[in-house]
Amino acid sequence: MPETGPKSAITIRDLKAFSELKMVEALEKEVWGVSDLDVIPMTLAVATREAGSIWLGAFDGRELVGFAFAFLGLESNSLMLHSHMLAVRQAYRDSDLGYKLKLAQRERALALRIREITWTFDPLQSKNAHLNFDKLGVVSSSYKVDFYGPETSSVLHRNSTDRLWVRWPLASRRVQDRLQRKEHRTHALEALATLVPLVRFHAGGTPERTDLSAALKRQRIAIEIPSDIGDVEQRDPALAREWRLATRWAFTEALAAGFFVAEFCRTVRGKQGPGVYILEKGTIEEYVPELQRAWA
Ligand SMILES: CC(C)(COP(=O)(O)OP(=O)(O)OC[C@H]1O[C@@H](n2cnc3c(N)ncnc32)[C@H](O)[C@@H]1OP(=O)(O)O)[C@@H](O)C(=O)NCCC(=O)NCCS
Repeated sequence: MPETGPKSAITIRDLKAFSELKMVEALEKEVWGVSDLDVIPMTLAVATREAGSIWLGAFDGRELVGFAFAFLGLESNSLMLHSHMLAVRQAYRDSDLGYKLKLAQRERALALRIREITWTFDPLQSKNAHLNFDKLGVVSSSYKVDFYGPETSSVLHRNSTDRLWVRWPLASRRVQDRLQRKEHRTHALEALATLVPLVRFHAGGTPERTDLSAALKRQRIAIEIPSDIGDVEQRDPALAREWRLATRWAFTEALAAGFFVAEFCRTVRGKQGPGVYILEKGTIEEYVPELQRAWA
């Protein structure tokens, strides 16, 4: 794996050739550290591409340094895209490439008159939470316990495979504002100033659960997570497990009680501190009216 950054301008384009899908296979192994069994089989990759799924690659010269794969799906009888994989090679991260791959996916979907893309991600991954909620503007009302089973061969799937199922309302005002990078954090940060988190990043980095019934009576709930769960998993797997169980409890209780996940703010209490989800009482359809119209 190269430890250097871009050698030339990065281009994003559709993956067409068999050899390009083969490069995806190698990148999957590199990014997730998966065994052969958990890699997307080439036969399936070719078939999905031929049948209209969207395979996008980010290239530095001839080298594949990132990709995004989304297939067509149905939700409430409407066509949507489900983005199954997004990856950027380590040395190319934190330079907006993941974001640009999502923008390219959005463009392809809108050209097909698809109004929504869904995907899942591990809610303990602070970086993914920031990309998904803060930069892209997704919302979520669904938490899946052990989505891919208790574990897979991936190094990223050791601490169970719980996922938030997120919805990206492509043409909504919310998403358009996010993509224009309009300021939206003031409201969220004000809300956080007075909120007792349902799971709190306690001294020493442990998760502290607070009073559930008090939290459910409020209009907003906050759930904190560590800023780097990968580091916690390596140093202290038992502590990472504690974080999984505490946040699973908080999300499932809050969503079952009629909240949805609206925002994620990172490092609200200094650089080494936690990031925090904000859940609001109500439905995502009320919050993002275009989600309702997408199904009309
Ligand atoms: C998730 C992934 C695709 C993101 O790619 P990327 O090119 O780094 O993404 P971007 O640069 O567009 O955005 C990353 C953002 O997270 C921020 N970030 C980095 N570390 C962070 C952390 N620990 N907590 C919060 N935010 C963090 C970056 O600063 C950047 O935000 P900014 O542009 O506002 O500064 C990449 O990290 C990856 O391949 N991860 C492994 C596979 C994976 O998890 N795939 C997605 C689920 S299928």
